Amino acid sequence: MNDIKPTPKNIVLVGFMGSGKTTVGRELHQRLGYPLVDMDQVIEERAGKSIPAIFEESGEAGFREMETSLLREITNHAGSERRIISTGGGIVGSEENRALLKQLGYVVWLSAPIKVILERTGKNRNRPLLHTEDPAAKIQLLMDQRTPLYEEVAHLKLDTSGLDFSELATGILECARYFFTSRA
Ligand code: S3P
Repeated sequence: MNDIKPTPKNIVLVGFMGSGKTTVGRELHQRLGYPLVDMDQVIEERAGKSIPAIFEESGEAGFREMETSLLREITNHAGSERRIISTGGGIVGSEENRALLKQLGYVVWLSAPIKVILERTGKNRNRPLLHTEDPAAKIQLLMDQRTPLYEEVAHLKLDTSGLDFSELATGILECARYFFTSRA
């Protein structure tokens, strides 16, 4: 008997804060009708507080525990259903998370240059890691640390600064279809 577990047909979006995961996730959800799981949103709903409040009360470590536990749960329940999963930018930091992401489905890394990330993230105060005197330096530091980690988990890398979100979704869908067909 063949006991190899088939790859769940989820599309998983990873990438830095402000790389466009939420917008691309919504576009894919509208096109495909698959449920959209926005992990940050689920964490906030379950905790009954915002991400800045979680960081404030439980520290980054507390937030990371919630993130890993939700990722374990999503991966454990990944069967034949198809979902779009939008992750938080720091999810690739732990080895366990990276292993789980790879099991979860087709992983798309959305990237953008620092200038674009700064513009996009400057518009709201929801990202506690950027509440510093020099957000540009913090972005550069985190990007240097995370780039190889995104690279490690991703099946596809797309720069979101040039194309519009609808074009990006089209590209992702074509590549994902090919990926799932070739593994069926
Ligand atoms: C984080 C990114 C955020 C959120 C949290 C930590 C990070 O999500 O998970 O503030 O470490 O980069 P977005 O990438 O959706 O902004």
